[in-house]
Amino acid sequence: MMPKVAPSILAADFARLGDEVRRVSEAGADYIHIDVMDGVFVPNITLGPPVIKSLRGSSKLPFISHLMISHPERHVAAFAESGSDIIEVHIEADQDDLRGTLRAIREAGCKAGLAVNPPTPIERAFEYLDLVDLVLVMSVNPGFGGQSFMPEVLPKIALVKEELTKRGLEVPIEIDGGINGKTAAAASSAGADILAAGTYVFSSEDVVGAIRALRNS
Ligand code: DX5
Ligand code: ZN
Repeated sequence: MMPKVAPSILAADFARLGDEVRRVSEAGADYIHIDVMDGVFVPNITLGPPVIKSLRGSSKLPFISHLMISHPERHVAAFAESGSDIIEVHIEADQDDLRGTLRAIREAGCKAGLAVNPPTPIERAFEYLDLVDLVLVMSVNPGFGGQSFMPEVLPKIALVKEELTKRGLEVPIEIDGGINGKTAAAASSAGADILAAGTYVFSSEDVVGAIRALRNS
């Protein structure tokens, strides 16, 4: 199966975000990956619901809002109303009750994604799989674009797929961080269904070719 491609706009030109979203959408992307950081869960701060809302008119592709924030349950409604189609929350984030957060995302009409950082064992996600529509395996420690891919996370993909199969669930696995023309092949042969890629896509002079290279990896 060819993986889907989700350009991460963290690496885009923030002064022209709408044009950047349009550009990768027309270049063949499957999703738009939007990195939301709060300066608490991760050291960096990026953008929030008003910016996502303002980008909604620039693409028909599904928006994946990757929330690297503490207490995501407080913001589910705002991210849903901003036009997010998939809302990903971290298993490591402080929150009242992760099951409640995942349920709230679905009740808000979005798909619920569960993100797992490199040091976190994937088995910790198993008890939530009945409430998730996507699993995000982080291949860098979140906070910044342009970091090096961590191949040691790859076995997590097979482990979670095995558990999903055991439960009769069909849930795609996204991988995020350090994906480029070289590392994409390792990620897709390990079973990743969606490749998030920021630097590689947005720094490419041939965006169509970069997206195609990821899909054919
Ligand atoms: C990392 C973000 C990633 C990142 C990917 O905190 O979640 O989505 O922007 O960027 P690259 O592809 O540059 O590693
Ligand atoms: Zn991300």
